[in-house]
Amino acid sequence: MDWRGVAEGLLRLFELILPAMVANGTPVVLHGPPPIDLGRRFVDGRRIFGDGKTWGGLLAGITMGTFVGIFEATMLGALIIYYAAIASTGALLGDLCGSFIKRRLGLERGAEAPVLDQLGFYVCALLLLYVVGLRFNIIDELIMAGIIYLLHRGTNLAAYKLGLKLVPW
Ligand code: CTP
Ligand code: MG
Repeated sequence: MDWRGVAEGLLRLFELILPAMVANGTPVVLHGPPPIDLGRRFVDGRRIFGDGKTWGGLLAGITMGTFVGIFEATMLGALIIYYAAIASTGALLGDLCGSFIKRRLGLERGAEAPVLDQLGFYVCALLLLYVVGLRFNIIDELIMAGIIYLLHRGTNLAAYKLGLKLVPW
């Protein structure tokens, strides 16, 4: 096993996914109406996304994620800003897809959807980075998935204890 290669690959993946992680976490503290679905319902009579997905949260998330890219650019070069914007957009789209799926399953806003809640944003951020031509090692992707899962659990528990979230997931 080439552990040095794994470590280097993980670091590169982390640099590209950090903006997505910040983008995903930002709406918990920075959000605002209107809801993205503007209150509209899907054919099943339930909300398309629900009140937990707002335009304010979407724009704040993409903005903050891109800012992380600007910060990273001081060390890694300007191209990372473009990838940060892509990854942040992917993260928020993934979060939105997750809510769409949750509503179709009949889960109310804020209900827990294990794995989807923690990794939906990551999978979609990776997907969009793939679309623009980036490739990562599957081992690195899986290790990062584990790290993100635990981080998500930890930060959401902290946000709950701080009164920022109503539920600990
Ligand atoms: N949020 C937002 N806009 C977004 C994403 C999140 O305003 N695009 C805010 C909402 O206040 C939301 C909080 O961040 O309640 C936490 O996000 P999340 O856990 O993803 O939403 P939930 O309320 O759990 O809703 P859902 O069941 O749809 O995931
Ligand atoms: Mg939630």
